[in-house]
Amino acid sequence: MKKYRIALLPGDGIGHEVIPQAVRVLKAAAQGFEFEFTPFDWGCEYYLRNGRMMPEDGLEQLRPFDAILLGAIGHPTVPDHISLRDLLLRIRFGFDLYVNLRPIEILPGMEPALRKKSADDIRMVFVRENSEGEYCGVGGRFKRGTGDEVAIQHSVFTRRGTERIIRYAFELAKKSPRKRLASATKSNAMQYTMVLWDEVLREVAKEYPEVTVGNYHVDALAARMITHPESLDVVVGSNLFTDILTDLGGALQGSLGLAASANLNPVERLGPPMFEPVHGSAPDIAGRGISNPIASIWTSSLMMEHLGEQTASERIFSALKAVTGEGKVRTPDLGGKNTTEEFASAVIEKIAG
Ligand code: NAD
Ligand code: IPM
Ligand code: MN
Repeated sequence: MKKYRIALLPGDGIGHEVIPQAVRVLKAAAQGFEFEFTPFDWGCEYYLRNGRMMPEDGLEQLRPFDAILLGAIGHPTVPDHISLRDLLLRIRFGFDLYVNLRPIEILPGMEPALRKKSADDIRMVFVRENSEGEYCGVGGRFKRGTGDEVAIQHSVFTRRGTERIIRYAFELAKKSPRKRLASATKSNAMQYTMVLWDEVLREVAKEYPEVTVGNYHVDALAARMITHPESLDVVVGSNLFTDILTDLGGALQGSLGLAASANLNPVERLGPPMFEPVHGSAPDIAGRGISNPIASIWTSSLMMEHLGEQTASERIFSALKAVTGEGKVRTPDLGGKNTTEEFASAVIEKIAG
């Protein structure tokens, strides 16, 4: 029987609540294939014991897996710029997972956060550049701790990196029902990186005459997500811009506990793809068992889709939608009283039929 080897990195905080529930759902959905889950205890506690977020050969350990399922990284005991860069960003960059795909849509039974809009109005998929840009980590600090201190954080936009993410977005838009692509720019203020971005967008657009392109400054695009969400389908943007836009997307969905994401390299395989909810480790609610597992369950459905198990992916997503549609089981972020585990159990019951 086909076996998928999945590396589990629950990470920190509510990662330890949502990932075990996603694993239960995945096991329930496995038909005609099986899983072998291998947990890794990398994260902030590991850092406090070992002085690093993951072993030096961490990427080598992850490489043989079919996929990585990650919860969230970050705990107040370790500065975020250390914990996230040494684990999450190391995996994304190390395996060149240059596409970060983040769907935003309203599940059945969920009230859109915007009262005047319907669920049909809010259906977007964000294509986030995930391998360079504002997150490249190039820069430094000068005259540290003095009154003359200078901090420089560069953005790196390569033509290759810009072109491959924009092309991926065009391909997605071409296959989407309305064939529309929106791009997030800021070329009115950033005359090098964003002007290159716009140029590449225009060049690649010539190859996709069937796709309608809207090029919006990112600030206006954020406003458009609220005022005219129905005008947005596929949205492509840089690493930082899309990070911000997708938390706004989570808010449109009704909670950050809903937004899912897939880190992919559709062209070459330097390592396994990584699947993770958009949200963080939520220290404010961690340990109470009330975090919303929807994002992680949805992420698991994306994982199965990308592993080529369309039926299992749909089984998970349909069960998820059946539970939200009934509106009986909900975690507190959605106004309910249920626990993380109760929600996942409801999904598993639906899968079992
Ligand atoms: P966060 O996403 O952890 O939390 C923001 C708010 O949303 C909080 O009020 C939280 O309770 C709520 N929330 C998030 N996920 C939820 C869920 N599943 N169910 C219910 N409520 C949920 O963002 P933050 O507070 O800015 O960051 C906390 C830590 O997580 C920081 O260390 C940050 O760097 C890290 N972080 C990690 C990732 C990741 O690993 N992918 C992503 C974002 C933030
Ligand atoms: C996300 C997160 C990460 C990001 C942080 C924690 C580094 O916010 O995945 O959205 O900005 O990519
Ligand atoms: Mn984010």
